Amino acid sequence: MTETVTEAQTPAHFAARLLAWHDTHGRHDLPWQQHIDPYRVWVSEIMLQQTQVSTVIPYFRRFTARFPDVRALADAPEDEVLHHWTGLGYYARARNLHKSAQLVRDAHGGELPRRLEELAALPGIGRSTAGAILAIACNERAPILDGNVKRVLTRVFAIDGDTTKAATQKQLWAIADALTPAERSGAYTQAIMDLGATLCTRTRPACALCPFAADCRARAEGNPARFPAKKKTKPVPERRCQLLVIRNPDGAVLLEKRPGTGIWGGLWSFPEIPEREDAALACDRLVGAPPAGLRRGKPFRHTFSHFHLDATPMFLAVGAVRAQVMEDQRLIWYKPGDKPLGFAAPVKRLLDALANEGIELEMNQQ
Ligand code: ADE
Repeated sequence: MTETVTEAQTPAHFAARLLAWHDTHGRHDLPWQQHIDPYRVWVSEIMLQQTQVSTVIPYFRRFTARFPDVRALADAPEDEVLHHWTGLGYYARARNLHKSAQLVRDAHGGELPRRLEELAALPGIGRSTAGAILAIACNERAPILDGNVKRVLTRVFAIDGDTTKAATQKQLWAIADALTPAERSGAYTQAIMDLGATLCTRTRPACALCPFAADCRARAEGNPARFPAKKKTKPVPERRCQLLVIRNPDGAVLLEKRPGTGIWGGLWSFPEIPEREDAALACDRLVGAPPAGLRRGKPFRHTFSHFHLDATPMFLAVGAVRAQVMEDQRLIWYKPGDKPLGFAAPVKRLLDALANEGIELEMNQQ
């Protein structure tokens, strides 16, 4: 490996080379690149944090059509915000976006703050996202260091350290800062993220198309995908549960609002009980009546970032139920066509199947 710095690895040339590539080969027609304002850039950056561009596009369109500015978002009920996030995953992003919009409305006069520290103090906005918003929306010189940028920089400069460690992060932030140009900072920021997302991909990077192919130390070493250094992978734990799909004689299903923290936080779901708990007893506890029929559905797996959830839907039919269910704000009877709520993706799938009678609803008598 050579330690010599090539011309393209010096700040002025790095930016020029990257911008020339982006001007010709980058993406310029994404919805958040039209009618650019800090709010739209903020929403797009939050959606793009864990999700790829092609998935984000329709969500971004619907979200900004319904919530066109900070105030519209801040004034909306949380259920509706979560409804517009249904299927996108990592729902804390939506709850934080909503909370931050309320803070911006109440403490910043409805305008996103333009100071990096104030932006980064809002829930869900870290230093990198704050930098991206200021760069892309306001063309301010603000470095970023998201997953894409980490990949590009660790490869071009063959940075070996564990990127989850503070020392490596400090080193990478210093490089990111040195490389970020004062001119066309917004275009540069979009360009380096696009390079990471489209060419300098995690596996099988398209080095032949990369503007830094001749300068990249990782490529010179022969195995660019070795960077960034892989964390030691732990086996992903598995959890099992039952989801109670309780239907009443009106064809409504019982839904429970999940607590604000944890998986599917703040979303409406079927009541979840441990694998070994008796579903009929749980039904009695929830609605004050044992089920008249019970059928075990096909188990399915839903994978979260840090564990697998193996869920077995249990279909239960009940007769008349006590009124308390309706009065408890965290439990509701929900019919297809009732007002839209935020659902976890597998819950939405089951609800759609129920609405289309795609699920065998005949209950076996116990
Ligand atoms: N990932 C995060 N922000 C992004 C952006 N603006 N463009 C492409 N990928 C991204």
